Amino acid sequence: YADPSFSGELIRWQKQHGRHSLPWQQTRDAYKVWLSEIMLQQTQVTAVIPYYQRFLESFPTVQDLAAASSEQVMAHWSGLGYYTRARNLHKCAQQVVALYDGRFPSDPALLKELPGIGRSTAAAVAAFSYGTRAAILDGNVKRVFARVFSVEGFPGSKPVEDALWLRAEALLPETGIEAYTQGLMDLGATLCTRSSPACVRCPFQQRCVAYATGRTAELPVRKPK
Ligand code: ADE
Repeated sequence: YADPSFSGELIRWQKQHGRHSLPWQQTRDAYKVWLSEIMLQQTQVTAVIPYYQRFLESFPTVQDLAAASSEQVMAHWSGLGYYTRARNLHKCAQQVVALYDGRFPSDPALLKELPGIGRSTAAAVAAFSYGTRAAILDGNVKRVFARVFSVEGFPGSKPVEDALWLRAEALLPETGIEAYTQGLMDLGATLCTRSSPACVRCPFQQRCVAYATGRTAELPVRKPK
């Protein structure tokens, strides 16, 4: 599945048309990157921004967060939902302080062992903070791959997810992992949306199998009942 033109086109598109002014894009501080990625796991960008900023005002470093009480942490999360994220966030901060002297590891395999950090979040944190070459695969990215490469089957099922991870790994660029990773997120969030994709503006229009076959509405396959 390797194809350097895929990453090349995406990186070019991201630099011209992607998002560059989100608050967490102004830093390589792994603590801030990690905080943003946890908040963005199940919440939209516009809802996250004020929480992200208030959180960092109260807990500017991972040591501040680790030392805070559960009540303080919960009070700052209140309204964002999915409260398991906040409990894991607090535990994760305490582990990073205890195990790594407050410095998040740059190896996604180590990041993935921390509470609340799955394979995709580990890769995003490593890529944005340290430039580590690692593959992400969240819901938006699954949708992009399912359409461009016409991957059949429900992407939440184990075999389809395994196949998508193989593609995600094979497509990684040799350089420019930050723009590539942000480009995948931006394309999925802004053009290759679930119900009304803007194919006319998509850098992958020429190679998208779903576009060519008029099947963007059928891919990715929905969860079977
Ligand atoms: N969703 C998950 N991570 C993101 C990021 N870094 N920027 C924008 N949206 C995201």
